[in-house]
Amino acid sequence: MNSFSNEEFDFTFLDEGFTAKDILDQKINEVSSSDDKDAFYVADLGDVLKKHFRWYKALPRVTPFYAVKCNDSKAIVKTLATLGAGFDCASKTEIQLVQNIGVPPERIIYANPCKQISQIKHAANSGVQMMTFDSEVELMKVARAHPKAKLVLRIATDDSKAVCRLSVKFGATLKTSRLLLERAKELDLDIIGVSFHVGSGCTDPETFVQAISDARCVFDMGTELGFSMHLLDIGGGFPGSEDVKLKFEEITNVINPALDKYFPCDSGIRIMQSLADTMLHQLSRWQLTNCKKSCIKEQSGSDDEDDTNGKTLMYYVNDGVYGSFNCILYDHAHVKPVLQKRPKPDEGCYSCSIWGPTCDGLDRIVERFDMPELQVGDWMLFENMGAYTVAAASTFNGFQRPAIHYVMSRPAWQLMQQIKEQGFVAEEEEQDVSTLPLSCAWESGIEHHPAACASTSINV
Ligand SMILES: Cc1ncc(COP(=O)(O)O)c(C=O)c1O
Repeated sequence: MNSFSNEEFDFTFLDEGFTAKDILDQKINEVSSSDDKDAFYVADLGDVLKKHFRWYKALPRVTPFYAVKCNDSKAIVKTLATLGAGFDCASKTEIQLVQNIGVPPERIIYANPCKQISQIKHAANSGVQMMTFDSEVELMKVARAHPKAKLVLRIATDDSKAVCRLSVKFGATLKTSRLLLERAKELDLDIIGVSFHVGSGCTDPETFVQAISDARCVFDMGTELGFSMHLLDIGGGFPGSEDVKLKFEEITNVINPALDKYFPCDSGIRIMQSLADTMLHQLSRWQLTNCKKSCIKEQSGSDDEDDTNGKTLMYYVNDGVYGSFNCILYDHAHVKPVLQKRPKPDEGCYSCSIWGPTCDGLDRIVERFDMPELQVGDWMLFENMGAYTVAAASTFNGFQRPAIHYVMSRPAWQLMQQIKEQGFVAEEEEQDVSTLPLSCAWESGIEHHPAACASTSINV
């Protein structure tokens, strides 16, 4: 049952024929006539729904657990909770956030292998039982603070080809895994399964195959020692956008046969995945519209012969790497602006760099990008800014985090309500969702309409 009774969040209904891009234009009009021209987001919640279906289609045996760390916005968490997703929480605050929304403890995994004792106690008091570990010290802490916990042993992977490595920090080797299982037995703790993470931005799907095979070895060790091993958590690592060499479905096409080989359907093993990037970064349409160019200057000493008239431009905008663009520093993200004004066909391009608003030289969003000349007050859009953006944004130098405006189409909303009442039936709904007008006009080429939409406040 998906019933949630907490605070409301506001979103705008997209009427038929209108898209998130229309809202974006509408907001730009509103903001442009005010003095405060702050950066803002437009987030299409219908896209979260669409991704959820895409997920089930690509990995039908795997239950998604959303890693709250990547974006803890209440609207996102509530939408996913309504869809029946589980949640991967790394702290007491994240557990409280999802529980306050009404998520039952069985749908939460406390997936931080090194936890503070007081936070383990909080999990115990809140009924959260599933939690990961990778060391003897952690086992001893759990034995003291939460002896009824259902433990999941995190194993290390070969994440040398991932964009962001995680096994440098977490994960037991196979040899250590045996010792840990034996120690858990001595401490009378319950181990129910294995988790791993191949590193975020995986570039080689074979890493999953090796990790799944290693997990099988640890399952066998556990079973031999008398544990009832029934949970496999295959972590994250999926691409954050479509413009990558290795696509989401190319990875899942390798994972599915590996799961069937090492964990056959009839083995009764529950497989879950604590994902982040795939759910938001890649697929959700977050559009950050940045504010104005406050300075254009000619850079002296440029020896780049391709620059138009030797001119390069520097734009200073009102969000940067200390704000939502922290993904550039932390996640090696590369972002590209889309211009709000369509350039004239014969307009020349200049080599430009784009800088954030703080007084720090590190605060550069784009090192070099060719685009037509902008004027102060022109807007840039940055798409796919959902995961690992606002969640880690600071207010360094006094620059506030951007406001987020949520939108959803009526068919997406109706489908959500249906799921809320009847539960999630992936195969039946898949047909319907593919026809939902969930994406943005920018891509579909639909002309923009001013003032297209009615604002609503609804409890999801
Ligand atoms: C335990 C765990 N699960 C899931 C994730 C999300 O992974 P990704 O961002 O690659 O989807 C992370 C990322 O740090 C993690 O540590």
